[in-house]
Amino acid sequence: MQTEQRTFIAVKPDGVKRGLVGEIIKRFENRGFKLIGLKMVDVTPEMAEKHYGEHKGKSFYNRLIEYIQSGPIVAMVWKGYDVISGSRQLMGSTRPLEAQVGTIRADFALVKEYNVVHGSDSVESAEREIAIYFDENELCDEYDNMAEIVIEKLDD
Ligand code: RTP
Ligand code: MG
Repeated sequence: MQTEQRTFIAVKPDGVKRGLVGEIIKRFENRGFKLIGLKMVDVTPEMAEKHYGEHKGKSFYNRLIEYIQSGPIVAMVWKGYDVISGSRQLMGSTRPLEAQVGTIRADFALVKEYNVVHGSDSVESAEREIAIYFDENELCDEYDNMAEIVIEKLDD
């Protein structure tokens, strides 16, 4: 059964610097997901540690924390049916050379250290990550968009 979910997506600093914000947003809109939160953020050390706490102790942790603070990110909340797996599918594998052609990471990245986009990997991570970057009153869910048309005829 498909379920309506929310997820946290970020264009990472390399994606912002390379002018990929519009391209990435376009792919999520094209898929039929609904944008309910959007802002630019200079990630603080505290936010970075909260966001990537699960990787603490791993060899790449320090570099990852530095990377996510190396410029502004574009922080977003997207809503839709199975948006968590759907957005991970749009993004492609962590390692861009293993990602399917047509995915964001395959089309715009080469190495996992600079893979241009982040997406939550579970409902729990999504809610935790949304809370790091957004207050609930910053989210705008009260409008109709293409997402309603895409799933209009689904009842289970
Ligand atoms: P993300 O959380 O950023 O959406 O990426 P992901 O789920 O595909 O991958 P994850 O395992 O959560 O790793 C988070 C980010 O850490 C960097 N990384 N570097 N050097 C390494 O071996 C390594 N492994 C992961 C990547 O930028 C990855 O997106
Ligand atoms: Mg992850």
